[in-house]
Amino acid sequence: MQQADQLPTSVVSPLEAETTVDAGQLKDGKPALKPTLTIVVPTFNERENIEPLIECLQRALTGVDWEVLFVDDDSPDGTHQAVQEFCEHNPRVRLLRRIGRRGLSSACIEGFLACSSPFVAVIDADMQHDERCLVEMLRPLQNEEADLVIGTRYASGGSTGELASNRVLISKLSSLAGKLLLKHDVSDPMSGFFMLNRKSMESVIHDLSGVGFKILIDILSSSSKTLRVLEVPYQMRARTRGDSKLDALVALEYLSLLLEKTLGRYIPVRFLSFVSVGAIGVLVHVFTLWFAHIHLGNDFVLSQSLAILVAMLNNFLLNNIFTHRERQLKGWQLLGGFASFSLACSIGALFNVQFASFIFEHSQVWWLSGILGATVGSIWNYAMTAKFTWKH
Ligand code: GDD
Ligand code: MN
Repeated sequence: MQQADQLPTSVVSPLEAETTVDAGQLKDGKPALKPTLTIVVPTFNERENIEPLIECLQRALTGVDWEVLFVDDDSPDGTHQAVQEFCEHNPRVRLLRRIGRRGLSSACIEGFLACSSPFVAVIDADMQHDERCLVEMLRPLQNEEADLVIGTRYASGGSTGELASNRVLISKLSSLAGKLLLKHDVSDPMSGFFMLNRKSMESVIHDLSGVGFKILIDILSSSSKTLRVLEVPYQMRARTRGDSKLDALVALEYLSLLLEKTLGRYIPVRFLSFVSVGAIGVLVHVFTLWFAHIHLGNDFVLSQSLAILVAMLNNFLLNNIFTHRERQLKGWQLLGGFASFSLACSIGALFNVQFASFIFEHSQVWWLSGILGATVGSIWNYAMTAKFTWKH
């Protein structure tokens, strides 16, 4: 541990901290807390981790003027109540509660924007990241030797600890894919544990996509100038309370982030997802038509109508799960959603036919007319359903 007199000016010595700012209480009628470091903790169903995490932070950060900002997506387990109880007597603890929203990256971004300290960190709530590294991560930022410090599991001294081997493999593969996108050579671009200065954060904030899980990749790939990056190795710990939120859909979100950072400049990724669902819909249509044709006798109109209905339902549900994941309709909303989706797409089909016929009249090229008609129809369907079904 460094001596107090060697510490940079904005780090207070442990002794001083105890008597003045460590509890963050009022001093001479003025708030003593003007944090140097805000630790943003995204949470979803982490109720049992709140108290242990705050205790660990308190122990690890003696001497630093810090605050912790939990960004909770209205977790059903009442995480926000657990945080609120701390907020009432501990000014170092803050809560940002989002209603009707989901997403780790967007939670971090909103946490960055809701604080004003010169340094911000992100850490999991479940104590998988080693909070004792925070002081070591802060120092080079304060000394202006780095813009971004990443807690890494893959440099020497770091480890993935007890992380399941399939998770390690997924993590390594996606790190590799991520690296291809980045200007920066970092060993663990998937890390959810890092710290940066406000200037760097401000320089990327407008370009962050906020999609999915990978906030660090988002930051690294969005910065127009190369950030000075340092890595601090840590040993990842096992989660002891609550469950991981990393599911199969997260891999898709990751893919969509990579696409957005590459193709996204030209075509919106949400539109690509919508069109891919449409392509699956065509297969579902043909399959249903084939099946119905065999089983419903020779009633082609009935089979075709059934195929349209099944394909429409398929497209609606897939778009609800993937394309508009963060505005997913649930329960009774699904009925209204399906009605508006079907209506918008039926009007889209009319446009499709009209436009294709118009092109065909002039060009006599059937495939060109078909493709252009389908393109116009898809753009209409995408725009209208985004607005009226998922209410963007
Ligand atoms: N607000 C909010 N909204 N928080 C969320 C959400 C969400 O939709 N989803 C997850 N979180 C919170 C969790 O509560 C946790 O504090 C943190 O984000 C990370 O989620 P975990 O469920 O603990 O993820 P993990 O441990 O499986 O994945 C970790 O390792 C990855 C590397 O393999 C994370 O640190 C990732 O960021 C990291 O990339
Ligand atoms: Mn975790």
